[in-house]
Amino acid sequence: MIIAPSLLSADFANLKQEAQAIEAAGADWLHLDVMDGHFVPNLTFGPPIIRALRPHSKLFFDAHLMVANPLDLVENYQKAGCDQLTLHIETLPNPKQAIDRVHALGMKMGLTLKPNTPISSILPYLEHIDHVLVMTVEPGFGGQKFMTEQLNKVAEVKQAIVATGRDITLQVDGGVNAQTIANCAQKGANCFVAGSAIFTQESEYKTNIATLRSLAHNNKK
Ligand code: DX5
Ligand code: ZN
Repeated sequence: MIIAPSLLSADFANLKQEAQAIEAAGADWLHLDVMDGHFVPNLTFGPPIIRALRPHSKLFFDAHLMVANPLDLVENYQKAGCDQLTLHIETLPNPKQAIDRVHALGMKMGLTLKPNTPISSILPYLEHIDHVLVMTVEPGFGGQKFMTEQLNKVAEVKQAIVATGRDITLQVDGGVNAQTIANCAQKGANCFVAGSAIFTQESEYKTNIATLRSLAHNNKK
């Protein structure tokens, strides 16, 4: 069970301290939401900021690229210290080529899809990838409401992953909190992004992570 706090909900004026605090609080991965103002309306950060954070964290850097042309900067993400890139299938004219480029650079490769994109778009690539992200909100902003109807997709992807016999992480992202995480785990998710449920609560990061972790663990499929 992997808990991946999203830096999107951290204090952007103190990213170094936030990255250090979330590691000390027991995070497994650091989820990095890269947005370009084209594929999604919002803008966040890119390789230079990821690179600046890299020396201050030992966490696995899990970059979620919500950008129109993800391959343009693929080497920059690698040099910045990303361990994994998750690309939107909607942005990839040739998914297999993208997978091969990411792997050739020594990074793990994930595929994701928007809520309205059918899973048939990603299933043919399961045998080549390390990670699947099922979006449970429209990408672009933190703090949105969890889309319960996406749970069926999680279950279908889980079944397809099992059928490959491969070790592929199944992540959910968007509106994941203490009320919604159990359902995700029951459907087979084993990797959980959470932004507001971790960073913008009154309780401590450590408590928030531990709460999510135990709910995920106790509802493991
Ligand atoms: C949305 C991002 C998410 C977001 C999750 O486009 O991919 O990672 O930060 O935020 P919460 O957990 O607040 O829904
Ligand atoms: Zn994300």
